[in-house]
Amino acid sequence: MTTLSLRSQPPPATPAAQFLGWDHIEFWVGNARAFAGWLASGFGFDFTAYAGPETGRRQSVSYLMTQGEVRLVVTGALQPESPIALHVLRHGDGVARLAIRALDADAAFSAAVERGASPVRLPWRESDEEGTVIQADLATYGDTVHRLVQRSDYRGLFLPGYQPAASPSPVGAPVGLRAMDHCVGNVERGALDGWVAFYKEVLGFEQLVHFGDDQISTEYSALMSTVVWDGSKVVLPLNEPAEGRRKSQIDEFLEYYRGPGVQHIAFRTDDIVSAVSAMRTRGVRFLEVPPAYYEDARMRMEGYDLPWDDLMRLGVLVDRDDDGYLLQLFTENVTDRPTVFFEVIQREGATGFGAGNFKALFEAIERAQARRGNL
Ligand code: FE2
Repeated sequence: MTTLSLRSQPPPATPAAQFLGWDHIEFWVGNARAFAGWLASGFGFDFTAYAGPETGRRQSVSYLMTQGEVRLVVTGALQPESPIALHVLRHGDGVARLAIRALDADAAFSAAVERGASPVRLPWRESDEEGTVIQADLATYGDTVHRLVQRSDYRGLFLPGYQPAASPSPVGAPVGLRAMDHCVGNVERGALDGWVAFYKEVLGFEQLVHFGDDQISTEYSALMSTVVWDGSKVVLPLNEPAEGRRKSQIDEFLEYYRGPGVQHIAFRTDDIVSAVSAMRTRGVRFLEVPPAYYEDARMRMEGYDLPWDDLMRLGVLVDRDDDGYLLQLFTENVTDRPTVFFEVIQREGATGFGAGNFKALFEAIERAQARRGNL
């Protein structure tokens, strides 16, 4: 009789070796219809697919909102006992799942657990006439979950249980959001190194860059940030608050979110002037920078011919690194609690995160914090 010895098998490859990029990001919210409607009206997302009682799901409703390659799922509970309702009670509206597409979800899940990840849900299969999807859930910071999605044997629109939206979004055209750029998590003071180690040693990510509190500070507050990525498309900056004279924006997040969670999601565009013009017209509000910002910015960007009038009118921030430049802008919080917001970013060669804008950005956030009485 031949038996397979575990010892003779190669050590498990890293989970990241199985990753194929972002699949989707799922919000759990109090009113999915309203939140999804706002993503359509303000941000130009298309109402693509729906799951709920009409499609055989009894406990919750989900709207799949898409634009370019970006897929956001907005889910709400139908019963107060639902884990979704309890998540909203504790955290407010927020990001519950960061879903990454995997070549082999079973292998990625096994490798992650073998290397120390906490399983949330063992791999499971869902099928319909379009094929089979395999998914599995792993814990990350706070109550946030990494969902692994293997859809190589699935031809359907999104997932079993979803049906195409009945009608196209009635409000305006897409604004030009093209793809996910990065997704940022906030963790407690002292926890950053541990989570960076989790992504590196357990999931097989690499560290892209670290910013110390000396690089990210204002008169009042400071934070530290480390960016990890899977070596391809999944880019995850992580922040922790540092000692400052007043409560930092990360502390405010942690207090209102009741723990670590997703702070912002950055969408890439090829034309930020047109995207932000459309979003502002459609009612999206962004953090405002003072006019003085542009005096310094013009000096920093010497050598580049930029549409300064448009950038100033729209409040777009600019930064450069060795490889090029980037344009970026941050919305106000998109939830009632001062927690989650969106970023729009146009990269012209630059691979950084706008370090030259950190101070101006954080001062803008602190002005908003002060208005809330939280600074
Ligand atoms: Fe960002």
